Amino acid sequence: MSYQTIIVGIAGGTGSGKTSVTQAIIKNLERTGIHSILLEQDSYYKRNDHLTYEERAKLNYDHPDAIDFDLLEKHILALKDGKSIEKPIYDFQVHNRVNETQHIEPANIIIVEGILVLAMEKIRSLFDTKIFVDTDDDERLLRRIERDLNERARSFESIKNQYINTVKPMHLEFVEPSKRYADVIIPRGKDNKVGINMVASRLRYLFNKMNQK
Ligand code: ADP
Ligand code: C5P
Repeated sequence: MSYQTIIVGIAGGTGSGKTSVTQAIIKNLERTGIHSILLEQDSYYKRNDHLTYEERAKLNYDHPDAIDFDLLEKHILALKDGKSIEKPIYDFQVHNRVNETQHIEPANIIIVEGILVLAMEKIRSLFDTKIFVDTDDDERLLRRIERDLNERARSFESIKNQYINTVKPMHLEFVEPSKRYADVIIPRGKDNKVGINMVASRLRYLFNKMNQK
């Protein structure tokens, strides 16, 4: 018997509020006992054990080549097939994957979140629902500066150079154009309670329909 799933892709620029929107959707669904699981694209950053911390801090983390999309695809397909996975864990403080993994059991709703998940055709094609969180660039940058200073052990100098050299150009080349593939665009991120509730309601409807069959 094949396992039934609804796979949701949530993309958007860095600092757009993807994580916050995703958490709000998951919480909303939990309220009626619907459990969903989350795969963050960030967990799938490739290992860079051969480089020093300083070298790793300077890498381009916004190009598709930085991410192991083959493993992400494999994991989505395994969950879709009703099999559990060992999700990698990424440590932003050291810019590398850690040795431990997180055991994830399958669930009917799988959410895949990350800046490039709609840009990659082989990942995008697995989604039943595609969402793009759209927030103004200046707000995204301000949030990123605050977050990276406080939570990701980066200096202002590092944040500024990284933004100019890689984050912004990759956003323009890959992330922004992927908006066209979205079924739903949520402006303003987590402040958009109506948008979040509409998406959660739709997922609840699909979940209930699937479980009536
Ligand atoms: P993303 O996953 O797209 O990078 P996050 O949801 O992690 O975005 O948000 C990035 C940062 O901005 C976090 O520190 C978060 O707390 C903050 N943030 C997100 N949405 C808002 C908002 N509407 N107002 C203020 N801060 C926000
Ligand atoms: O949470 P968010 O979507 O912002 O995460 C993606 C961002 O994380 C990318 O824009 C990338 O530049 C950044 N990143 C980083 N250092 C790493 C890994 C990712 O700054 N080691």
